[in-house]
Amino acid sequence: MTQSSPVTVEVEDGIAWITIDYPPVNATATAVRIGLDHALSQLQNARIAFLQCAGRTFVAGGDMSEFDAPPELPHLSDLVQTIEDSPTPIVALMHGNVLGGGFEIAMACAWRIAKAGTKFGLPEVNVGLVPGAGGSQRLPRLIGMEDAIDVACSGKILGADELLKLGGLDLVVEGDLKPAAIVFAENMPARPVAVSLRDVSEYEDTLVERKRRTIEGRAKGQLSPLRNLEALQWSALPFNEGQPLERALHLELRDTSESRALRYAFFAERAVAKPAAIASAKPRPISEVTIVGGGLMGAGIAVAMLNSNLSVTVIERDAEAAKAAYKRVRGLLEGALKRGKITAEAMDARLGALTTTDNYADAKSADLAIEAVFEDVAVKSEVFAKLASVVSEDAILATNTSYLDPRQIFDGITNPQRCLGLHFFSPAHIMKLLEIVKTPDTGSEVLASCFALGKRMRKVSVLSGICDGFIGNRMLSAYRREADNLLADGALPFEVDAAMRAYGMPMGPYELQDLTGLQIAWANRKRQVRDENERYIGIADQLCELGRLGQRTGQGWYMYQEGNRTPIRDESVEKLIVGYSASNGINRQKFTAEEISERLLAVLAREGADIVKEGIAERNADVDTVQINGYGFPRWRGGPMHYAETIG
Ligand code: NAI
Repeated sequence: MTQSSPVTVEVEDGIAWITIDYPPVNATATAVRIGLDHALSQLQNARIAFLQCAGRTFVAGGDMSEFDAPPELPHLSDLVQTIEDSPTPIVALMHGNVLGGGFEIAMACAWRIAKAGTKFGLPEVNVGLVPGAGGSQRLPRLIGMEDAIDVACSGKILGADELLKLGGLDLVVEGDLKPAAIVFAENMPARPVAVSLRDVSEYEDTLVERKRRTIEGRAKGQLSPLRNLEALQWSALPFNEGQPLERALHLELRDTSESRALRYAFFAERAVAKPAAIASAKPRPISEVTIVGGGLMGAGIAVAMLNSNLSVTVIERDAEAAKAAYKRVRGLLEGALKRGKITAEAMDARLGALTTTDNYADAKSADLAIEAVFEDVAVKSEVFAKLASVVSEDAILATNTSYLDPRQIFDGITNPQRCLGLHFFSPAHIMKLLEIVKTPDTGSEVLASCFALGKRMRKVSVLSGICDGFIGNRMLSAYRREADNLLADGALPFEVDAAMRAYGMPMGPYELQDLTGLQIAWANRKRQVRDENERYIGIADQLCELGRLGQRTGQGWYMYQEGNRTPIRDESVEKLIVGYSASNGINRQKFTAEEISERLLAVLAREGADIVKEGIAERNADVDTVQINGYGFPRWRGGPMHYAETIG
């Protein structure tokens, strides 16, 4: 093999070491498959072979950039079979992530040895696929049907300890792998029956039906979870019949709009993390953060920061409010403890890194100060004037405003290149999206620092310019306006909600408004200056004037029974809507679910296109990433821009 092959073989004392070295994640790209094919033909002088990877992980999947073209030889499915059939038994020696093709390779090996902490999974379902190299056929034979369903259909990741318990590993090693491998080779046990020749252990008759119902409920229109369930069932056939069926389905699914959309979303998120605006900028370290305002958002932001091991100071209006803020943050951490998300020690460590105060002097050493006080320019400006007088000259200053213009908020602050918006979504410690809002003055180093911070908090950060509502809420307003147009033209709230659910949204626009409350949007509409020629539907305003502000007032677009969040159609609201159409001379018409979703999607795509055209977002991928991570847009549809591009 030439020097440059990503796969090498060395034989020492009858032990062959096959090493894949293909950064960053040793994906099964064509070059790796060619190298592996060659390596597998060089094991004659070895009595045992170890297959390992250089760098931070074992093979962590396929190379998705190859999936748009026809597959090239050698196919992974054939290599995996060669591994299983190899006269020299091959041992998978694993660390890091063993995912997709990596797990398929491991399952074909005679034995599986992993470093403690290694993770295993078949995430093909997340990109709209089923495995293509026997994964769905070997996994149930290896660990049983029930766990195989969880792994293949929901993308569940198994830790090394779990997989060992399920019988999927032969050894978990705490220290270095190589010495453990040599000891294993010296005491080589009898070669076990190949996984593909084993039978799936018996399981209850009702298992598959039960799982199917759960999967269907969660999939919200996405097909690949069910296709994985179907493929797993083929493990009841002899392997040489089931495996070609799986392979054919894998290739068929590569061409579906669902898989293309999911692959698009994956690459979009990667692109969005590196905006052109920060191309050559170096982030500076952030370790101390001050948050002014410890209300709903401030407390959530504090937890997001504490979870990333930052030290946090929350400043409130007075001592009483500071105490309340402490309780709020503590409450969120206790919730995480109760749900098993953090340990008691971790909670104590986080609380130890938290200070709540009413004294601005405590912000002195902050690298970053964020405000999350009332949505009022005067209040926010005053906060920044006070902050600027205590923090260092280059400490980053950020506003969490949803709709106000950051340029007004920061007016008069010295060093305006350090000012920007960090728009979190509620609940801030859970929601993935973070809009990083640049003003004309914001420095690229400051932006880069906030992108690095977003990554540290495991957020999906998207760069936005300034406009009313930034990228996400501006699109949400357009979406809601068009939904209201539909109401005036003949639809009813339950029909609009049902149509959008059918499209794949977790909720329709009206049930969502009832959940989050109608008052903020109402206040915004009152604040906005509208073009007289623009169509304006006043139905929501009428509801608000009636005190119907959503679930918190017991009624909104729907009515609610005491203690129950299920929306119930309300005749009086529907009468009000019909009356609105009549008094505005509108002839109400019937809409199908497709007509409703198409109209709403067209508006989202049009608004998104304007946002890109105006330079508010760098590209379509930014708009789609915002929709998927902040607004529940079904990932398997790729986002409104991708959807519009694919339907033309
Ligand atoms: P909130 O009313 O729950 O919290 C505001 C907190 O700020 C209160 O605890 C209040 O005591 C404190 N505060 C007010 N003036 C202060 C001052 N001068 N100094 C120190 N503390 C002060 O409001 P919420 O919902 O947390 O919103 C805060 C900001 O976040 C607003 O700008 C809002 O637009 C924005 N935002 C809200 C979202 C939401 O879903 N609620 C989502 C994204 C942004």
